[in-house]
Formats: sequence, C-alpha cells, structure tokens
Amino acid sequence: MLAIIGGSGMAQLSCLEISRREVIRTPYGEPSGPLTFGKINAHDIVFLARHGPGHTIPPHSVNYRANLWALNSIKPTRVVAVAAVGGIREDLKPGMMVVPDQIIDYTYSRKFTYFDDMKQSVTHIDFTHPYNQITRRQLLEAAQQANENIIDGGVYAATQGPRLETAAEINRLERDGADMVGMTGMPEAALARELELKYATIAVVANYAAGRGTNKQSIPLKEIFAVLDSAMVSVRNVLQHMVNYNGD
Ligand code: HPA
Repeated sequence: MLAIIGGSGMAQLSCLEISRREVIRTPYGEPSGPLTFGKINAHDIVFLARHGPGHTIPPHSVNYRANLWALNSIKPTRVVAVAAVGGIREDLKPGMMVVPDQIIDYTYSRKFTYFDDMKQSVTHIDFTHPYNQITRRQLLEAAQQANENIIDGGVYAATQGPRLETAAEINRLERDGADMVGMTGMPEAALARELELKYATIAVVANYAAGRGTNKQSIPLKEIFAVLDSAMVSVRNVLQHMVNYNGD
C-alpha cells in the first residue's frame, strides 16, 4: 500500500475515497493525526496530514518520529511526502513541482533519530542518497503519464522555521548548493531511512525564496496558500498515476 504524507496545502486528500481512520499509538507519542485509509482509482492507500487534519502543527513541532513509526506499522510499499518549498534556483518558480535528490539539514532541536537508546549498540545509517531512487523514478514516470511538468533533482535545504529566511540566509543556502528551501524535509527523510522505508518527496514551489524573483522586498504569505491550492491539482494528478505502481 502506498503511503502519502500531505504537507501545507494538503491537509486532506480530496481524490481519496475514505474507508476508515485509525489512531495509531507509538512509543514516541502521538502522530500528527489518524491514518486515513482509502482508495485512489481503486488502489488502497494510506494518508497522513503532517501538520494535522486542521493544519495546526508547525514544522518544528511535528512529531516526525511518531508519524513515520505509525506509517511503518502498516508496512507501506513506498512513502511519498508532499512538501512546500521556496524556490532558490532561478528556474524553480511558484507552482512548479520538483523531485529533489539531495538534502542539506539546517534544523536543530528536533527529535531526529530512533537510534538514541543507549541500551542498544550504536547504529548508523547510510544516507549518501537520502531519497529512495526507485520511488523517485516512479514519481517522475507518474508525472510523465499524468502530463505534468516536474523537475528531476535538486538540493533541498531543510530549515528550522517557523519563520521564513532572510535574504542573506538564502544567499548562503545557495552558496552551499541548495536549490530549494523548506521546513519539513528533515528529520522526516532520515527517520524514513532508519525504518528502511522507501521514501521520496514531491516538493511544490510555493514562492520565490526570500530576496529572490518577485520577492526582493518580502514574501507575500497569502499568496503562498493560493499558489499551493492550485498546485495541488497537479500533485493529485501525479499521485493518481503513482498508485498504479504501488497502490495495492
Ligand atoms: N522557506 C522555507 N520554507 C518554505 C518556504 C520558504 O521560502 N516556502 C514554503 N516553505
């Protein structure tokens, strides 16, 4: 069964025919909300809203460990995360979709690992390629079948939030090699790897990053949600094709 984590702009998945909701208990506390089970195009999927069903949990307060643990408990075939980002690279314009292939983590003070129990031996994970390559490829193919433009690859900078960045911070992220910036990509991707989940992300460009494009002076926050609303039509279209690979 394909698992989908919905981000900002996707607290619900409107193309999902819901069959039931289940609250999962985890050793790490409460997930952001119940798991929602249902069908897309007759394929079973499970959905979790990262920021809660009412979009009330800010990025730094999301219980990423509980969320991934809950999803892992139903042993999904793959996990697709949808995440809003600001575009740093010039061609990443509001409304576009990207399947990132790399991450730089700038977050702090988040519960970022399952391997901090000193009763077990020290455990490391390989994270050279932070996203599952096959899941990425399937997303790109699904987008092609859905006739949606999607960019293959890019470096996702994960910042702490909830404030947006300064223009100088964006310049620094670009010097570091980042193409887009968001607040939820980490520790989500690393926890997924620790659980050996086949995880990849559809990043949706909600705005030009601070100081870029038309946002030289400020980022118009209202517009972010309007952009996300319309971009979600394309995201759903991709997901509706993605279920053909993983939806049972
Ligand atoms: N910065 C960080 N996170 C974001 C942005 C941004 O500009 N847009 C959407 N999520």
